[in-house]
Amino acid sequence: MQNIVVLISGQGSNLGSIAQACRRQHWPARVAAVIGGRSAAAGLALAALEGIPTQQLAHQDFSSREAYEAELAERIDAHDPDWVVLAGFMRILTPPFVARYLGRMVNIHPSLLPAFPGLATHRRALAAGVKVHGATVHFVTPGLDDGPIIAQAAVPVQPGDDEATLAARVLAAEHRLYPMVVRWLVEGRSRLHSEQLEWLPAGEPPADDPGRSAAWPDDSQLLWCP
Ligand code: GAR
Repeated sequence: MQNIVVLISGQGSNLGSIAQACRRQHWPARVAAVIGGRSAAAGLALAALEGIPTQQLAHQDFSSREAYEAELAERIDAHDPDWVVLAGFMRILTPPFVARYLGRMVNIHPSLLPAFPGLATHRRALAAGVKVHGATVHFVTPGLDDGPIIAQAAVPVQPGDDEATLAARVLAAEHRLYPMVVRWLVEGRSRLHSEQLEWLPAGEPPADDPGRSAAWPDDSQLLWCP
């Protein structure tokens, strides 16, 4: 049984979709803990409803980034993690912290990377006039919102979209994308190898994988490449 530790900063809806998929689809894994910051109360409550142990750790309570990350790592490691899943975790992590979990830590970002790294992705996508936006799941490497891409969800920008409507459509796609990718990882289908994404012989996700159907609601589409 593999252990997944999820880090959140907010409402935790991606955490919820992962925890539910893990339970309903009987992954060979469990969400062993959810750790959230000061503004993560709603997400931690959601985790508690799923019966997952939660911990609150506020970076504001630490005098330095290093001190905060040392405590965070100690709490993560207490759960013997196979995977560290960043789900709306809004902290920039230092290279030593990233190195500690290299190949075991993934992130979801609300854009089609490498477009729009950083914050306010939906506003910037609308301002740029892109016709397709989306979300990306990638391995975490020291660069901001960098690291090998595992899969993406492409989401159409509709005429009349504003930041809120576009964010909601992308988030709905995230809820399909992220559980699917974490499942691929716990099933050993892909991994980080020599700084690149590698698909393993168990390989290609099965035809009945809920994420694989080409057409998603709202004309969103899964993009992946074994
Ligand atoms: C999601 O849209 C996620 O992609 C984004 O925060 C939101 C969290 O929602 N993450 C980032 O912006 C990371 N840089 P949630 O708390 O409901 O899962």
